[in-house]
Amino acid sequence: MAGLDAIAVGQVARDLVLLVDELPDPSRTTPVRRRRELLGGKGANQAVGLAQLGVRVGLLGVVGEDEVGDRLLGQARSDGIDVAPVLRRPDTPSALIVDVVDARARWRYLEDIPEATLLTEADVADAEGVLQAAQAVVVQLQQPLPAVLAAARCARTADRLVVLDGAPDDPAGGAELLALADVLRADAREAGLIVGDPPVDAAAGLRAGRELLARGPTLVAVEVAGEGNAFVWPDGELFVPLSKTPVVDSTGAGDAFVAALTAGLLRGEAYPVVARYAVAAAGATVGHPGGRPALSAAAIEAQLARIPAR
Ligand SMILES: Nc1ncnc2c1ncn2[C@@H]1O[C@H](COP(=O)(O)OP(=O)(O)O)[C@@H](O)[C@H]1O
Ligand SMILES: [Mg+2]
Repeated sequence: MAGLDAIAVGQVARDLVLLVDELPDPSRTTPVRRRRELLGGKGANQAVGLAQLGVRVGLLGVVGEDEVGDRLLGQARSDGIDVAPVLRRPDTPSALIVDVVDARARWRYLEDIPEATLLTEADVADAEGVLQAAQAVVVQLQQPLPAVLAAARCARTADRLVVLDGAPDDPAGGAELLALADVLRADAREAGLIVGDPPVDAAAGLRAGRELLARGPTLVAVEVAGEGNAFVWPDGELFVPLSKTPVVDSTGAGDAFVAALTAGLLRGEAYPVVARYAVAAAGATVGHPGGRPALSAAAIEAQLARIPAR
């Protein structure tokens, strides 16, 4: 499988998204206002976003040999994702994530992610050829750290672009992973795990970004919750506020962000352009329930117009 632009390494799950007005108290019932059943999990979401942005993308993850696994792979294929690297594991159900969102956009995830649906170091070693043939390798921390490290090392050895979503809280492995990453994107909580506290404003976000940059990556994006995202690179920085758009469910906005960041970098765009593009992609994802991105040129343009100038 020569010549993919990117490989997303990570979770593949059945996503069941339930919109309710309010969560019921114990021993009470509430109707579901809207239900969506989607191909989900961070790896799959990022692959979907990349495919929607015209990137030739493959997915390395694990599903069971069950009907759900068949459906997930079918959906991924029709999304234009190369699923040849996806592993089918016998004797395990595929992963399930239930995302219950209330009318105030507060989500709660119920996750059934069997151990056997996680990638192992050996799985990654078997996929070495695929990883090294792609231009970019995107990893997240919803997989065991040894597997994530193996994927990052493998990509780095072949001089591929290593994009990391999430910051490891394991001090030893974390340091190595940050050193291997070209691009680090962290939400506020994840950034806080490394630099001490989640950043509370733009200045703190840029400071956190600088601190993370010193640990290895050449581009860092840090979320400042409720405000925007701080981007830092060796000779520049930019704070991009959130787009003005109503939030229904923020799930998957980080995945869309990472997909757009990666797509922009693969196109060789300048960091300030890529930064705004990533925030626009996140903005294009918060308006619908569930983590599956719906990225199109028009959706991103519309969001770009809604990002306030600072
Ligand atoms: N209105 C908005 N416009 C643009 N970006 C947004 C908006 N609301 C949230 N975001 C961004 O979405 C991202 C959500 O990230 P994260 O919590 O990691 O999502 P997930 O892990 O579910 O994909 C953050 O970077 C946040 O700044
Ligand atoms: Mg995230």
